[in-house]
Amino acid sequence: MTTMTADGHIRVSRQDGVMTVMFNRPEKKNALTHAMYEAMIEALQSAESDAQVRALCFRGAGGCFTSGNDLKDFLGNPPSDAESPVMRFLHAIIDARKPLVAAVQGPAIGIGTTMLLHCDVVIAAPDATFQMPFTKLALCPEAGSSYLLPKVVGATRALSLLLTSQTIDADTAAQWGLVSELVSATDFDAEVEARLSVLAALPPEAVRTTKALVRDPMREALHAAVDREAAQFLQRLMSAEAAEAMQAFLERRPPDFSRFE
Ligand code: COA
Repeated sequence: MTTMTADGHIRVSRQDGVMTVMFNRPEKKNALTHAMYEAMIEALQSAESDAQVRALCFRGAGGCFTSGNDLKDFLGNPPSDAESPVMRFLHAIIDARKPLVAAVQGPAIGIGTTMLLHCDVVIAAPDATFQMPFTKLALCPEAGSSYLLPKVVGATRALSLLLTSQTIDADTAAQWGLVSELVSATDFDAEVEARLSVLAALPPEAVRTTKALVRDPMREALHAAVDREAAQFLQRLMSAEAAEAMQAFLERRPPDFSRFE
């Protein structure tokens, strides 16, 4: 069974115990809009309440995972409070009880990378790349990444990734622990499906208990980190630095931060 949002930008399918949430906006590199976050929240809630769903997998259409938040949507309609779709999505992935899987091909940028920290299995193709260009956009870490990233890759690498906005390739991401497993590009769909079938066939309560034992001790701190980051992120988003950064992106020119103190 497959359902789509009215604009077709999120496609949700269920098969053999797996719900797949596909970012389906390839013409914009699957940049995530408020409407897409709403659909993702709905999918997460539906997966949690449907006993037939044993795992949820995030994927991107067109050879790209996601280029992160839609910068135009973000500027025009900033996530101003805890009720904004992106904030509710972040709290929902922290609270997910069922295993979350991500299957990454091509670029995973911004929240495209930070959401992976909440996924329990991250499968990547060799062409996957990972970047958190927050400083480049005059923003700051989000999605609990200021808390989780140092735990996953170590403080030194976390700071380097977050401060320099550098892009890392799939091999590096796997070595650093951001990716659980690299699989071949040619058989990507089959490889992902094989791993999802194994996960979906496991005893569900044992799977949920295992996830809870690892994730629950961090849950409260993570919700707090998301809120702490959001307050700073919103201020950054409204800043003149961010306006310059985003305008430059949309105008396809290099940003000029020389006038800022
Ligand atoms: N928000 C809004 N639009 C985006 C976007 C985003 N995050 N990412 C890509 N797009 C749009 C581009 O503006 C372009 O639109 P246009 O065809 O109407 O001009 C289209 O998607 C294709 O992107 P383009 O940059 O031409 O593709 P590319 O293959 O050269 O580069 C990326 C792909 C993903 C590397 C590049 O688009 C990029 O860096 N995007 C921004 C990522 C980002 O900063 N995300 C926010 C993190 S907080």
